[in-house]
Formats: sequence, C-alpha cells, structure tokens
Amino acid sequence: MFISLEGVDGSGKSTQARLLVEALGEGTVAIREPGGTDAAERIRDLLADPGVELEPLAELMLFLAARADLTERVIRPTLEADRHVVADRFSDSSVAYQGAARGLGVGEVIGLCETATDGLWPDLTLLLRIDPETGLGRAEGDDRFEQEGLGLQQAVAEAYEEIAVIASDRVTVIDANGSVEEVHERVMGAVNERLAAA
Ligand code: TMP
Repeated sequence: MFISLEGVDGSGKSTQARLLVEALGEGTVAIREPGGTDAAERIRDLLADPGVELEPLAELMLFLAARADLTERVIRPTLEADRHVVADRFSDSSVAYQGAARGLGVGEVIGLCETATDGLWPDLTLLLRIDPETGLGRAEGDDRFEQEGLGLQQAVAEAYEEIAVIASDRVTVIDANGSVEEVHERVMGAVNERLAAA
C-alpha cells in the first residue's frame, strides 16, 4: 500500500511517518518529498534555500522533477515488490502549496502532478489537521515556506481541507492535536482500517 502524510509545516507528519514506518515493519520504504534519490535530494537543497529566488512555476517544476525521479526509481518498484511505501508529502503538497497558496491553480497543478507521476496517487493519504499558527510555532522555521509566515500556512491549510473533500475516498483527516502517542494511535486506526478493506 502507498500511504502519504500531508499537513501544514509543523503538523508533526515527519514524526508520525517515522512511527508508521516502524509499525508497518521490515520491508516498508520511507520517503520524504522532495528527496529520496540523489537528484531529488539536490533539488530539495535548492528549494529549501531562502537565498534562492524562484518564480512559482519554476518552483513547481522543481518539485515535479524531484517527484518524477522518485516515483519511477523508488515508489513504483517498491509497490511492484508488494511492499508498503510511506511518503512524507506527495502530490497533494504541490496542489496545496503551489496550486492554491501560490495561485497556480488547483486543477492545473493536479494535471501536472499526474504527468510527473504517470497518474500515481497514494492509496491512503493521512491529512494531519492542526491550527496553522500552532504548526508554525512548532516548525523549525528555516525553509523558504516557513519563513513566509502565517498567511501562506493558512492558505495551505484551507487548500488541504478542500482536497479532503474532493478526494474523500483517499484522504482521511487525522486530528494532530495531543501527544505524539495519541496521534500515532489515530494514524494506526486509519491505516489498519484501510489495510483491512484492501
Ligand atoms: P518538509 O518541511 O515537510 O520537509 O517540506 C518542505 C517544504 O516544501 C514544506 O514547506 C512544503 C513544501 N512543499 C511544496 O511547497 N510543494 C511540494 O510539492 C512539496 C513536496 C513540498
């Protein structure tokens, strides 16, 4: 099964992704976006650098280039080997950050994501819902998106809520308030339910 975790910066998804990978056991492959291949990790460094100015469309294309490489080289072969993939962000991040918050258009970005991934979407997306202000307080604050402040995070949070409605068959909203253990339990509840239905 292909599971992605999504949420505003500071929603705790990286911690939850790690715990989920441990819980799913050996053979599960963890990926983080952007990243996961040599080329994608280099693109990640470029994108995270607040000193690099980028047009929104150029920014999107870099995320998509990283995702295309990761999908073809890592995600598809892993799924074909019948192993689980847990992704810390995937196409929904581009739809929320670039499509909605940056204004490139939700429909347009969904289409471009499908080109980059050859139509691959996660089987299950866990949207960690947290107040964007709380999230920003928790985030490390050193990448280009976090530095842009609350306005961007609020736009991203609203976009995620829309995605949860549009893609309700795939997206499960998880309350990300509470302790790490409490949130992990909610995550496992959603994953076990989907595994049982598969
Ligand atoms: P991270 O902090 O979860 O590692 O993600 C890096 C930043 O990149 C985060 O602020 C969200 C942003 N992002 C996008 O804007 N579009 C994307 O497609 C992805 C994958 C991440």
